[in-house]
Amino acid sequence: MKRRWFFASILFILSASLTLALSSYCLPNSVTLRSLAEKRGIEIGAAVAIPPLKTDPIYQQLLANQFNTASVENVMKFEYLHPQPNTYTFEQADTLVNFAKSHNMKVHAHVLVWHIQLPKWLTEGKFSRDQLITILRDHIHKVVGYYKGKVQAWDVVNEALNDDGTLRNTIWLQGIGPDYIEMAFRWAREADPNVELYYNDYGADGLGPKSDAVYSLVKKLKAKQVPITGVGLQMHVGLGWAPPKGDVLANINRLGDLGLNVHISEMDVQTYDGPGTEEEKLQKAANLYADMMSACLSNRACKSFTVWGLTDKFSWLPGFTGKPQSPLLFDTNYRPKPAYYALIDVLQNK
Ligand code: G3I
Repeated sequence: MKRRWFFASILFILSASLTLALSSYCLPNSVTLRSLAEKRGIEIGAAVAIPPLKTDPIYQQLLANQFNTASVENVMKFEYLHPQPNTYTFEQADTLVNFAKSHNMKVHAHVLVWHIQLPKWLTEGKFSRDQLITILRDHIHKVVGYYKGKVQAWDVVNEALNDDGTLRNTIWLQGIGPDYIEMAFRWAREADPNVELYYNDYGADGLGPKSDAVYSLVKKLKAKQVPITGVGLQMHVGLGWAPPKGDVLANINRLGDLGLNVHISEMDVQTYDGPGTEEEKLQKAANLYADMMSACLSNRACKSFTVWGLTDKFSWLPGFTGKPQSPLLFDTNYRPKPAYYALIDVLQNK
């Protein structure tokens, strides 16, 4: 039995290495997203899922070869790190932080204050305003303190706004009031004087009511000396519904003018809807990736470009939309797609 497992493992590692070797057959070994991004002075990242990071050598190799920063897709969210009132569980997140350290990668930690993926003890507890303030402050102090010096950045507040630019009616807004945003940033800074602190949102990538609201929110925070480093433009887009490159650049420019960093923080492209053959759709997705990378490279305020997953195999989108999707840079067999080569081209030539 043991022998069978041994040979099965050897076979798996060999086939993984072969796939990886074939997947980069078109490029010299030294040309990777990571090497090119480092030359251009920006970070290139992927959101990381823990199960394959723990068990899949090809996933590990691809991540470390192609990316120099890792975003934490799920396991730093409240329900993972703080499942019971007095229990914190850091093991899964530590796996990623340790991997990043041993491969000379940075970690973009995600997320301190969100309205989703909260534990039941929190959502079903009937807490007063003062109690909720204590819970959130203790959570931020504990978690940011634990990872002090080990992560480069935190998404402090995520998706606090509705599409029309009003504040989203979350447990935090209801229980604490609009000041929870400012408080969260200040508590994060108390726990780590050096870590970068971000406001992160979707559908606010180009120009429009929501991105105007993000702009005005962060402008007010800056005016009140709230310690905010930058804004994450998530960039969850689809064929046929993505902001024009010019609007994204205008948005990056105005945020940069406030003295803020900008990250393209969670890019993926829904490919299911829209006309065209599969090949044409992959090319359209590639063009969108190229546009957004090019917008990012146009202003030094844009420091980082992250895709929301390493390969299509583990993307959240097929499950979420109930449709086959091909949203990322590597396919389900970890082969590079047109989007990958489009980013290589922009980083190399534009
Ligand atoms: O952990 C359980 C597992 O125990 C169970 O077996 C499995 C069965 O479905 O579910 C697992 O939890 C899932 C979790 O991802 C981990 O895979 C949840 O059901 C699922 O809802 C959760 O989805 C995540 C989603 O946030 C939650 O809203 C996605 O992976 C993650 O990519 C997505 O990420 C968000 C960012 O945090 C914020 N911006 C938008 C982005 C996309 O929605």
